Amino acid sequence: MKPISYGHQLITDEDIQAVVETLKSDYLTQGPRIPQFEKEFAAYLGCEYACMVSNGTAALHLCAMALDIQPGDKVITTPITFVASANGFRYQGAEITFCDIDSKTFLMDLDKLEEILKASPKGTYKAVVPVDFAGYPIDEERLHKLAQEYGFATVIDCCHAPGGLWTDSKGEKQMIGNCKYADLSVFSFHPVKHIAAGEGGCITTNRKDLYEKVALYRTHGITKDPERLTRNDGGWYYEMQELGYNYRITEFQAALASSQLKRLDWSIERRNEIARKYDEALDKLPILIPFRQEGIVHAFHLYVIEVHPMRRKALYDYLREHQIYSQVLYIPAHTMPYYKSLGHKEGECPVAEDYYKRCLALPMYPSLTEEEQQYVIDTIWDFYAKCGREAKPMCEE
Ligand SMILES: Cc1ncc(COP(=O)(O)O)c(C=O)c1O
Repeated sequence: MKPISYGHQLITDEDIQAVVETLKSDYLTQGPRIPQFEKEFAAYLGCEYACMVSNGTAALHLCAMALDIQPGDKVITTPITFVASANGFRYQGAEITFCDIDSKTFLMDLDKLEEILKASPKGTYKAVVPVDFAGYPIDEERLHKLAQEYGFATVIDCCHAPGGLWTDSKGEKQMIGNCKYADLSVFSFHPVKHIAAGEGGCITTNRKDLYEKVALYRTHGITKDPERLTRNDGGWYYEMQELGYNYRITEFQAALASSQLKRLDWSIERRNEIARKYDEALDKLPILIPFRQEGIVHAFHLYVIEVHPMRRKALYDYLREHQIYSQVLYIPAHTMPYYKSLGHKEGECPVAEDYYKRCLALPMYPSLTEEEQQYVIDTIWDFYAKCGREAKPMCEE
């Protein structure tokens, strides 16, 4: 059996053909395939605008720029995420507050968020950046109400969750990232993600003003749009109107992303099928399986189990010895030396810190075969047969 990792891309012959065609075309960058993907992705999600960029981190940074985040502005995110969710705002000098997580969903706890907001005058926080961790959607409707009451912008980090959906209080289905209740959403197209373009990212929004800003900052702050120019010297003329970056993506990555977008629904179905099989197979073990709720389609970027803290490292090592590369996601961001150097400390988000001791992401990707998944399950059962099943995942040491 070949090594099994926690995530892996699926590249089909159609994907390869799409890339090869692009390589043979006239454009390697700034051609028709990027706007084509943007159109397709916006239509898939049901939002007005999509702006494709070089990676998810760049997408977060561009959101911070578009929201005019200035040094010292306060931004709230969750500690259970890849550090980029906070870093994108740090690049603008934002002061990050980490809001602890909900122990069931592992997402930003909106009760705790409300407590943080209540403790300061309205308008103190400029943006809130929840993460649809593992593919589970945050309650965007409640967040939207808080945003209206306390006056902050919302950026949903949907890097784990394209293709998932949730149901609002009117019973309407909402695609994750459609921005019906948020200002901006961001996606990543890193190989372990649902759409694997090598590197890549996207910002979605329904706000024209924000779309125009992220599109401008994506390419040096340069525009050729005659309506925006302060003067026009002729056909060659462009203006750099603001200080932007080169956060562009290539045409062949966009072609790969378009090709993969066609399989996104299938990928979500397959991921949910794998999740159901894990649920059933692990039910009798001292393991907590991922929380779900009616009305939600989990995008299952990750299948995260919780085990007893005294068993977690042993289980991780045992799986590794058997060529199964599960992963611990995430080390709470506020405990990173960089964030500690800014004054954050252990104890700041106790639920997240406790979660970190128990969590383990099992292999989860659409091309995981039934045989491979069964091998993962059997190896976990072997582990518990050897070490005893008495240790409950949630009991104290
Ligand atoms: C939740 C989250 N946000 C942001 C990012 C950053 O995306 P990228 O790696 O494309 O820069 C990632 C990538 O791992 C992520 O998982």
